[in-house]
Amino acid sequence: MSSDVSFDITVDGRPVPVVTGQTIGAALHAAGVRSWRTTRFGGRQRGLFCGIGVCFDCLISVNGREPERACLLEASPGDEVTTA
Ligand code: FES
Repeated sequence: MSSDVSFDITVDGRPVPVVTGQTIGAALHAAGVRSWRTTRFGGRQRGLFCGIGVCFDCLISVNGREPERACLLEASPGDEVTTA
């Protein structure tokens, strides 16, 4: 029996399941989302790359705050995520 507790966050208005302790980046990856923003120059897609907070490719807006690194940000119940 698993002791994992899960909840949903909202990504662009759609529910995405999260296991307690998962980062927003991990939840998006588990949901099959591989990119959620584009570069300013060239419009290239970006999502998780390093996964350890170094590259800043995974920036995402949560609850209206300035963009943060999705690979480091633990998801919380009720989080509303907005992609670029
Ligand atoms: S994936 Fe590189 S900083 Fe998040």
